[in-house]
Amino acid sequence: MVELSDTALKFLNLGIEQELMAYVFYKKALPMIKEEELKELVEKFAYDEKEHFLQLENEYDKNVRSEMWAPYTRIS
Ligand SMILES: [Fe+2]
Repeated sequence: MVELSDTALKFLNLGIEQELMAYVFYKKALPMIKEEELKELVEKFAYDEKEHFLQLENEYDKNVRSEMWAPYTRIS
């Protein structure tokens, strides 16, 4: 696994925020849409953004967790 720098983690965090904002945007737009076809498309967009969010969050967690547990891995 590649260990990310603090700067990379900061940008990863910004990405997570943006994915979350996009997800919330599509979810809030849904009730305003009357056309069924467009509604389905926007629902798909919301799902896609949620997946992006979860992927980035997973990357962030892996790095933060590995950092957090690093002192224990040095104990022999
Ligand atoms: Fe996205």
